[in-house]
Amino acid sequence: MTIDEKVKKTPAGLGVIDAAGVEALFTEVRVAMAAERASLVSHGAASEPERDKLCKDLRDRWLARKNGLLSFVDENWLKASPKELKPAVGRYFNGLRQESAAFAIATLTKDVPLHVSATFGIPAESLRQVSSTFEIQEESLTDLTLPGNRRPLGSLHPVTQMQREIEEIFLNLGFRIESGPEIESVYYNFDALNIPESHPSRDDWDTLYIDAKTVLRTHTSPVQIRAMEKYGAPLYIIIPGKCYRHDSPDASHSPMFHQIEGLAIASDITFADLKGTLDFFAKKLFGEKIRTRFQPSFFPFTEPSGEVSISCIFCGGEGCRVCKESGWIEVMGCGMVHPQVLRNGGIDPEKYSGWAFGLGIDRFAMMKYDINDIQLFFQSDVRFLQQF
Ligand code: PHE
Repeated sequence: MTIDEKVKKTPAGLGVIDAAGVEALFTEVRVAMAAERASLVSHGAASEPERDKLCKDLRDRWLARKNGLLSFVDENWLKASPKELKPAVGRYFNGLRQESAAFAIATLTKDVPLHVSATFGIPAESLRQVSSTFEIQEESLTDLTLPGNRRPLGSLHPVTQMQREIEEIFLNLGFRIESGPEIESVYYNFDALNIPESHPSRDDWDTLYIDAKTVLRTHTSPVQIRAMEKYGAPLYIIIPGKCYRHDSPDASHSPMFHQIEGLAIASDITFADLKGTLDFFAKKLFGEKIRTRFQPSFFPFTEPSGEVSISCIFCGGEGCRVCKESGWIEVMGCGMVHPQVLRNGGIDPEKYSGWAFGLGIDRFAMMKYDINDIQLFFQSDVRFLQQF
């Protein structure tokens, strides 16, 4: 019996006597409805007028007030069903009505494709004759036995590669990796690090504020304090992560960039430990021949503070364009953790001392891979990225 015939009988006439039978009956209707719709969608139409007509016909067949299939369901199944079956029939009928929303002309026309030949005004028949490639393509879309499209495997971003290389060296020295939020409070980003209210780095021009008390962290140093609070001393950590500053993008600046912070706190840490560790690090990363140079500098959260340079990795210290004939390249800031910063992190500066450094991962990657524009890292151009 076709679905057209079934909707013209009553449940009793179809031998349906319980809710399970009702459910089965409605499932049949739903399947038939969905199949007819799917068939129209997969066949498509040759022209817009034809498509409109096919859609309207299918809609009317099911939904027309008079003589639509659902009107028979209403009449013969719902209205004519015995009292005990009515709730079940009512429920399934409601569900069916909701599903039939997919027959609304707008939805249906949107889903029914026009044949390529119709779009270009060429009859499908002649198209098939002149273009066998078209047929092959059409075929290959549906031949499930053909191998799938292989997508080339990606590789690690050069900044990630650099980060992992640096991490590896410190992990081998017994440091742990720590992280903190990129959206940071003014307290951790500035106050706790002993950076006074008047410090120029707090200015809107340098810092991206979310509100008066919240910033996008301008460096990874706030995680120093967070880690001290969390773990206390002794502490040996490195902190890789994204930082943000109000900088216009150019060849050497990006409003988002990456740093790695290093922090060592123990009962007998001295500047000699800092020098030894960073010298070892530079040699591991750039080769045994590399020399390091420490020059006095200033950061509010370290005392004394230093600037570290390495002998130029391009000319070996002879002097070249990259090191501006000086033989040295400045690579990071560092210093002994300021006693007030230790205190702010809950650590007693009478018992413990520490060193810290901060370096730009992007700059290291630029040096290592000889890249002259930091923007290249963030433009996602595969031709650039696939070189690493
Ligand atoms: N946070 C400093 C900066 O971003 C770098 C730094 C870290 C300096 C740790 C000293 C100690 O410039």
